[in-house]
Amino acid sequence: MKTSTFKYRHPGYTCACVLSLMIAGASIGSAETGGASASSHDLQAGQKVYEATCFVCHGKDGKGALPGVPDMTSKKSRLKQDDALLLKHATEGYQSKGSMMAMPAKGGNPSLTEKDMKNVIAYMKANFLPDKKQK
Ligand code: HEC
Repeated sequence: MKTSTFKYRHPGYTCACVLSLMIAGASIGSAETGGASASSHDLQAGQKVYEATCFVCHGKDGKGALPGVPDMTSKKSRLKQDDALLLKHATEGYQSKGSMMAMPAKGGNPSLTEKDMKNVIAYMKANFLPDKKQK
């Protein structure tokens, strides 16, 4: 009697071990991919920049808080443009034809670095682009 309960326990133990190894393996795998994308653009840092400088005009939701500010979440979102172009326009300032308001250089905050600008554009793309949300 005693031996049969022992036999029963043993495979259970092995099973739990394999399972926990698999779980550990899976979480290491996802942490690695998450780390890779976070290091190229820091979305959290981008959010800080956005909430300190850009949201005044662009709004917390990216739809534009003032007249003349384009809706970044629309089908025609300006964020669909190339990263390099967006970075240039946001860094140097930009006014499109017939626009009633200009985008000020660095959102009017000259202390922002190139890295800040890259992060904040990555943040805007990640949060406001209409196709990104559906994915
Ligand atoms: C004073 C208001 C204001 C602030 C602050 C502001 N923006 Fe803008 N932004 C605008 C307006 C207005 C436009 C549209 C300009 C136009 O098309 O003439 C614009 C356009 C843009 C565009 C699209 C450019 C393009 O190619 O169409 C990007 C990207 C952008 N802003 C990023 C930012 C970022 C990043 C910040 C913060 C660092 C910021 N903005 C702060 C008003 C502002």
